[in-house]
Amino acid sequence: MNIPDDARQHAPATERNREPILEVLLRVLPSSGTILEVASGTGEHAVFFAPRLSPRKWLPSDPNPQSRASIAAWRKKFPFDNLYPPLDLDVRAPIWPVETGAIPEWRNSDFNTSPLFAIVSINMIHISPWSASLGLMAGAGRLLPPGGILYLYGPFKLGSKHTSPSNAAFDEALRAQDSDWGVRDLDEIVTAANAQHLTMLETCQMPANNLSVVFQRSSNQ
Ligand SMILES: C[S@@+](CC[C@H](N)C(=O)[O-])C[C@H]1O[C@@H](n2cnc3c(N)ncnc32)[C@H](O)[C@@H]1O
Repeated sequence: MNIPDDARQHAPATERNREPILEVLLRVLPSSGTILEVASGTGEHAVFFAPRLSPRKWLPSDPNPQSRASIAAWRKKFPFDNLYPPLDLDVRAPIWPVETGAIPEWRNSDFNTSPLFAIVSINMIHISPWSASLGLMAGAGRLLPPGGILYLYGPFKLGSKHTSPSNAAFDEALRAQDSDWGVRDLDEIVTAANAQHLTMLETCQMPANNLSVVFQRSSNQ
């Protein structure tokens, strides 16, 4: 691809994983409502998924200002009616901005008529501290209505074991960069999810030794 001359960043992996991820999203997401994407990164997934998941609304977010600038620049290049501006969201926050109703961009939007029905997190939980995984589960537990979906994508350990030598090497490289990062064990993620009334519906093998993991918000508080 040509190097963009604006704030747009490019993550080559998004071009490889977006089609397989879309296939799963089309199958597991509710057919309407708003999808909150946490840790949107460059924003390339957002501009790819939004038109393909219409009439659902896509709300990208990231705590990193450069990422939000990139998401906004991709959105400017590919504007879609159902793609919101990026939100400043760190999943570790005890209250997420979507809970306060104080987002200026939304004053004239239809957010209230398209409530949040799903949260999507692609490649975040291993590249952030464990507190981010816990924050994600807590936010999903607070925000999702009964039946709402939490979708995770990334590498996972199964039964405390890596599923491939390349995932083991990736884990080691992540931990060398930041000792709080690392490929998570699916059992620990499920335990954290269950504590927030999220039940695992399915896992789905994805290319390059990644998994899709789908949770659903149960009705018991
Ligand atoms: C590897 S990138 C993945 C970006 C994108 N989802 C993708 O697959 O290309 C990890 C992202 O997680 C975000 N992130 C890290 N800690 C976070 C947190 N506590 N809350 C929300 N996002 C976080 C980073 O800013 C970064 O954009």
